[in-house]
Amino acid sequence: MKILVVGSGGREHALCWKLAQSPQVLKIFCAPGNAGTARVAENVPIAADDIEGLRHFAEHQAVDLTVVGPERPLIAGLVDAFEAKGLRVFGPSREPALIEGSKAYAKELMRRANIPTADFEVFDDAARARDYLRGQQFPLVIKVDGIAQGKGVVVAQDLAEAEATVSAFMEQRIFGESGDRIVIEEHLAGEEASVMAFCDGDTVVPMIAIQDHKRVFDGDRGPNTGGMGAYAVHARTPALPDDLTPTMLRPAVDALRDTGIADRGVLFAGVMLTADGPRCLEFNCRFGDPETQVAMPLLETDLADIFCAAVDVDLEKMPIHFAHRSAICVVMASSGYPGAYETGKPISGLEAASALDAVAVFHAGTGERDGQTVTEGGRVLGVTATGETFDEARERCYAAVRRIQFEGAHYRTDIGQRAQAKS
Ligand code: AMP
Ligand code: GLY
Repeated sequence: MKILVVGSGGREHALCWKLAQSPQVLKIFCAPGNAGTARVAENVPIAADDIEGLRHFAEHQAVDLTVVGPERPLIAGLVDAFEAKGLRVFGPSREPALIEGSKAYAKELMRRANIPTADFEVFDDAARARDYLRGQQFPLVIKVDGIAQGKGVVVAQDLAEAEATVSAFMEQRIFGESGDRIVIEEHLAGEEASVMAFCDGDTVVPMIAIQDHKRVFDGDRGPNTGGMGAYAVHARTPALPDDLTPTMLRPAVDALRDTGIADRGVLFAGVMLTADGPRCLEFNCRFGDPETQVAMPLLETDLADIFCAAVDVDLEKMPIHFAHRSAICVVMASSGYPGAYETGKPISGLEAASALDAVAVFHAGTGERDGQTVTEGGRVLGVTATGETFDEARERCYAAVRRIQFEGAHYRTDIGQRAQAKS
């Protein structure tokens, strides 16, 4: 098989790395990829949202299967465009991708399907949103309807902050048309977990539960990022039931199917583990980043087989296994991230880190300059280690991180620490 992976982050490197282990995969292309994907795939200089360019490439190269990492091309209809030409793609078409593309759509689906979630109201009009806010208790959560790279969510502590947020989203339009509609919802407290599942429109196969760390500094301090690290939760978090399939994933897929929509690809539930039980915060229509960098090293099943089974609506017959091991991924970021940062810093120690037992170094924001791997993004690397125990995985992971150097590198030293406290 020839496979095209679309995207350029750590998630895509982890997918390419796992696909490269499949005996049936002859060739992997990654568009546009990074310096890490270049080691296991051939990078192709086509942007992840250049749907026409990607489709032309897939046809021209007789690509057997395309796998899409980021949400933007999915929401823009990449899968519909590919399927119109008879090309096979793992990922949802435009309609099911709305589960991520529109928070109002997702929340209404959750309400319809009785999926436990925060109470909410949807507004298209700033004046009406402000009227509503006046009678509310705080904190409240205000979200733009459309995608905003995870930045379109504000926890408003009081009326003044909530009013300012409504104005920023709907009148100043800081996220453009994404904020023309907003969702105002109840604030929930608890630990968060990410539960991804493979879906073929019918069968839903959950992956292991993972916890992401979104704040930039240790102790969950500082601004939110795209994710500074993650670990496999397993049975460590007592509030997490073994399987959220019957209460969240299955009802979502069924609710889509009831409207004639087959959700094929990954369905990802972002969950808050509240004192009253798990509540679904959001759905994503794709693999998580850095969740994928934790899930892939634990996946024992051939990933190409899983993708083909999902595309062929045959997941029901596919046994999918994850190793009963611990895994942890630590993200190494550029100085200044998630604010402004410089790029082009040479990275050393990558080979020494990768040589360690049960360690995989996934590249996110990297490139090649004069034969040297250099930084090219905010999140630069995701270093993953597995182990028999959480402590073993953690020690391996940080030993690998300490072998890697680039100017200004920073990372959290407490990934999975809450789990450790509980174990
Ligand atoms: P979302 O994009 O909807 O997952 O929101 C991004 C982040 O905002 C989540 O990962 C949570 O940390 C936080 N968040 C979203 N909704 C709520 C809520 N209802 N209560 C508390 N925190 C929330
Ligand atoms: N790690 C969260 C996400 O991929 O959306």
